[in-house]
Amino acid sequence: MSRAVAILGGSGAQRKRLALRWTRAGEKVIIGSRDRQRAQDAARNIAARLGPSLPISGMENSAACAASDLCVLTVPFASQADLLKQLKPAFRKGTVLIDATVPLASSVGGRSSRVLGVWQGSAAQQTAELVPKGVLVAAAFHNISSDVLGGDASVDCDAIICSDDDNARQAAAELALKIPGVRAIDGGKLENARIVEQITALLISINLRYKTHGVGIRITGI
Ligand SMILES: NC(=O)c1ccc[n+]([C@@H]2O[C@H](COP(=O)([O-])OP(=O)(O)OC[C@H]3O[C@@H](n4cnc5c(N)ncnc54)[C@H](OP(=O)(O)O)[C@@H]3O)[C@@H](O)[C@H]2O)c1
Repeated sequence: MSRAVAILGGSGAQRKRLALRWTRAGEKVIIGSRDRQRAQDAARNIAARLGPSLPISGMENSAACAASDLCVLTVPFASQADLLKQLKPAFRKGTVLIDATVPLASSVGGRSSRVLGVWQGSAAQQTAELVPKGVLVAAAFHNISSDVLGGDASVDCDAIICSDDDNARQAAAELALKIPGVRAIDGGKLENARIVEQITALLISINLRYKTHGVGIRITGI
């Protein structure tokens, strides 16, 4: 059995679909939530869909973080900093934290087609600043809409991965490749996450204009 993936904030109707995909692909998944019961309900819901014997469980975020050395952060930007401060004692040295947070203005009451300016440059760089030393941060999965993750169809979108650490980049790439159709694209340093995060706001505005859901992005020529 492969390592556990803790999805912090993974109980939401949207990002729960990442748990669905990775569980289906054979990963051991822990859904994290502020509320243990909500996390367990989300895990049960996925198990009911995929098979009760599959290794998916639910825990409060700190417990989920402590139980895994591969975490994915999927909370609204407005709560990112507070959650990371709360999780500080739960992180282990060498833990890989993959940040999927997009600093959408909607997280503070603005438009979902706009991004907020982040002092550190990007939500992912803010994360890197807030986690304890020794936690390895990558940014990924910003451009993959949950709207296309619900079923088991191939996903027509690349995952652009930005990180200053090769192990974190590799772990994010492995998770990306577990989703059929998704390619893992090396997006370079963590500072490039600023650009990738902004593309999500553009994709949302395209969805609004074309009255579609879940448009994606492909890097061509590779
Ligand atoms: N949805 C997408 O298609 C998509 C695509 C790419 C990137 N993203 C990014 O992924 C992140 C999550 O997106 P989402 O659509 O899943 O958002 P969401 O449904 O609003 O939130 C996800 C989960 O975050 C937790 N949360 C909410 N407020 C919190 C707080 N104050 N403190 C701690 N946890 C809190 C909640 O879980 P509990 O209440 O169980 O704790 C919630 O279910 C965002 O940064 C978003 O920009 C989303």
